[in-house]
Amino acid sequence: MDLVLLEKALLGLFAAVTLAIVVSKLCGKRFKLPPGPTPVPIFGNWLQVGDDLNHRLLTDMARRFGEIFHLLMGVRDLVVVSSPDLAREVLHAQGVEFGSRTRNVVLDIFTDKGQDMVFTVYGDHWRKMRRIMTVPFFTNKVVQQNRAGWEEEARLVVEELKTNPTAATEGVVIRRRLQLMMYNDMYRIMFDKRFDSVDDPLFNKLKAINFERSRLSQSFEFNYGDFIPILRPFLRRYLNKCKEVKDHRLQLFHEHFVAQRKKMMEEKGSKMELECAIDHILDAERKGEINYDNVLYIVENINVAALETTLWSIEWGIAELVNNPEIQRKLGAELDAVLGRDQITEPDLQRLPYLQAVVKETLRYRMAIPLLVPHMNLNHAKLGGYDIPGESKILVNAWWLANNPAHWRKPEEFRPERFLEEEAKVEASGNDFRYLPFGAGRRSCPGIILALPIIGITLGRLVQNFELLPPPGQAKIDTTEKAGQFSLQIMKHSTVVCKPRVF
Ligand code: HEM
Repeated sequence: MDLVLLEKALLGLFAAVTLAIVVSKLCGKRFKLPPGPTPVPIFGNWLQVGDDLNHRLLTDMARRFGEIFHLLMGVRDLVVVSSPDLAREVLHAQGVEFGSRTRNVVLDIFTDKGQDMVFTVYGDHWRKMRRIMTVPFFTNKVVQQNRAGWEEEARLVVEELKTNPTAATEGVVIRRRLQLMMYNDMYRIMFDKRFDSVDDPLFNKLKAINFERSRLSQSFEFNYGDFIPILRPFLRRYLNKCKEVKDHRLQLFHEHFVAQRKKMMEEKGSKMELECAIDHILDAERKGEINYDNVLYIVENINVAALETTLWSIEWGIAELVNNPEIQRKLGAELDAVLGRDQITEPDLQRLPYLQAVVKETLRYRMAIPLLVPHMNLNHAKLGGYDIPGESKILVNAWWLANNPAHWRKPEEFRPERFLEEEAKVEASGNDFRYLPFGAGRRSCPGIILALPIIGITLGRLVQNFELLPPPGQAKIDTTEKAGQFSLQIMKHSTVVCKPRVF
């Protein structure tokens, strides 16, 4: 009797195992992941690939695995897209399906799980935030209202450099002063406020805390705890630091900037004229469309998305102009021919095609956000004939799209002329899926309307007034890159000699 029971049990086990194998084979066949290295249990591909998932490493992997590949990083599915057609599919054709954002353990803290606009999933909250932010930030009216402010800030940079004797001899780390300019450009829009000098204590507080936010979120250091949840306890100190920085930062925005405008609004009621961006945002809060946390997260988003990206791009542009004196001379000649002794203003930009080409080439060659901000599909999806598991992180390698010799003539050369010759029709706004410095489609950068004129005015004024040179004894500026989770900065902030031009 016992033997019969054992026999039945063994048969049952055999049948169950066979069924499991058959089912798993059938499912495996139907569920076709993009190619990629073979993952191992628990770690996936993490041990093979490492932490530093920058645009160049992902480019090397695209050469090996193709224009779409899949990595399993611990528990996280990562899909990297490296062709214009697939970029179009992710950003445009299937823009809704792939229009969400992944957050990692750190961004969950900095955005309180997507209370903001940049890192929230595609849906009602995102739509509302984007609508509320459009009028105060992203229209031509905003450009026209603020351009005089940007021109004044650029004039002050030039004036200070001219009166600093070191700038013309040993050179200065020009970024320091340009950072103040960028803060003033954006804080004027946001709060109608500016900081007088690089020594302003509040400016320095903001600068330091924004730097920490950026360092902690762009670092690859925390990947292990993000990819492999059982390792998360080892990340406790890192995550506590993130919480501390987040709380301190939001408190700073509240105490020094937002609370004052809110109080004014409460006193004046609906009679108050909406003067700066924050008034519009607080008005939306008053109407019950968003809450006060959302207001602070909008300020947080602008502090990251607007300030850093634009500053990095200006810094890259200056480095390329110093290292390519012929291009700098040609730009100077265009500015002289079109403007004479007049200083460049925003409406002049359309009369300065070479300057526009220099800006475009900087954004192509030194793309500030080379992998765009990571996208995500909330549900299971199809891409390029492959199955993409729900909640995969989708990276579009925009840097490689814009630097792939299969699509561009000599992409390794910094050559603005390409945008006046063979690529004359290509715009930064995403009309060509080989060139996406601001992304394309629903989640594309709404700040392009501000960024392009600010970069143009700044580079234009510098070249009009100075010969920009490497420091004495140095032939070129060091352009070693420093990449982050999805950022690309210059590693060493350049010292630049600004020798006043003689007319
Ligand atoms: C050179 C400067 C800039 C560059 C290169 C840049 C680039 C980008 C990129 C690549 C994205 C993501 C696109 C995607 O994921 O498909 C993005 C998103 C965004 N950018 Fe910019 N940006 C710049 C300046 C600005 C400025 C000045 C602002 C605001 C005033 C801004 C606000 C935003 C916002 C709010 C988003 C999120 C959009 C969304 O998720 O719906 N950016 N930017």
